[in-house]
Amino acid sequence: MRMVDIIDTKRNGGTLSDEQLQFFVDGVVKGTIPDYQISALLMAIYFQKMTKEEQTSLTMKMMESGERLDLSRIPGIKVDKHSTGGVGDKVSLPLAATGIPVPMISGRGLGHTGGTLDKLEAIPGFRVELSEDEFIDQVAQEKLAIVGATGEVAPADKKIYGLRDVTDTVDSIPLIASSIMSKKIASGTDALVIDVKTGTGAFMKTLDQSRLLAKALVEIGKQAGLKCMAVISDMNQPLGNKIGNALEIEESIDVLKGKGPKDLTELVLTLGSYMVVMGEKAQDTTEARKLLEQTIKDGSALKRFAAMIKAQGGDPAVVDNYQLMPQAKYKIPFNADRDGVLTKLSADEVGTASMLLGGGRQKADDKLDYSVGIELHHKLGNHVKAGEPLLTIYSNRREIPDIKQLLRESINISANGQVPTLIHEIVE
Ligand code: URA
Repeated sequence: MRMVDIIDTKRNGGTLSDEQLQFFVDGVVKGTIPDYQISALLMAIYFQKMTKEEQTSLTMKMMESGERLDLSRIPGIKVDKHSTGGVGDKVSLPLAATGIPVPMISGRGLGHTGGTLDKLEAIPGFRVELSEDEFIDQVAQEKLAIVGATGEVAPADKKIYGLRDVTDTVDSIPLIASSIMSKKIASGTDALVIDVKTGTGAFMKTLDQSRLLAKALVEIGKQAGLKCMAVISDMNQPLGNKIGNALEIEESIDVLKGKGPKDLTELVLTLGSYMVVMGEKAQDTTEARKLLEQTIKDGSALKRFAAMIKAQGGDPAVVDNYQLMPQAKYKIPFNADRDGVLTKLSADEVGTASMLLGGGRQKADDKLDYSVGIELHHKLGNHVKAGEPLLTIYSNRREIPDIKQLLRESINISANGQVPTLIHEIVE
């Protein structure tokens, strides 16, 4: 078999066979296919797309290129959640409220979106690197563990993702779907709830594209034998009110105390309800939602989150004292320059501002400042008055003209505007 023929088939709109996809994935992992040929095929897939069968076959071959976790030692139905990524998206943390076994393998942030592992490392002592046995034992005992990849999960994806990043082929539905699902299937979960973001701050900018991605993800999951569904949620503005590592831990704990922001709480309850139903702890989402609200009200959700922190070496006292996490030196107000309705609060730019303050990485080996970030005092559709604070910038630099300029560009205040819909669609 020759790689050039595989490229030729896809470039001309043909369908790749299982054998051709196996040859490709093997060659990627063994390093026998040069980067320029891998890149050429990625570009051909970007333009010619893939059939459902090709997508599933590529995903399974990428999954089989690495280790697959065996979680059968954990009693009950294991349910994971995946988000396609957004700014201020800290939903994984309050999912402690579900009380079903949640084995979560998460990633780090790069660019304007934050990573769950980075946020957790804002908690003094927290370890995200557990051995496979520690991970499995913890999910069995505490019902929740959030860790980095324990073994070599889908090495083909690592190589392909790196090339997609530099060949402008990231936002391709078959490539995103196979990348996400190869890793999730390898993680050994029984069921998966996927939060597909839509809007200016998401990979998929339109509802049509997001729906196609959600359907592709769910279809692949089902073909692989997983219980799987997706929620399409809004990412035209950051989720919740706090962006930044320690700030997002604070806000997650606030949700578990029943005093989180409305949009974040609503999304946690929505995704959490589907997880509880998939975990067969409730008949339907109405019953599941009541159960979640009850665990928040009676404090058991917060207790479970504190137990997870303790089990992973962190200081559980942070749940009562946020000052135990790194604190920024300066809190700099950013005020509205006119009266009106907030009509733009760009998630990308707010995320980039937080990254430039030191809260995110521009390069994979950048060191993070856990204390910095941005707090929003208003969301889209709110009426604001000239001179009142729109945001607070948490910074360790007193002078931040670059950040203020970027934030100015991320905001628009007009005469009229609407509160955007948070949950756009459910794909089952
Ligand atoms: N997350 C992934 O893991 N892969 C993608 O391609 C996009 C988001």
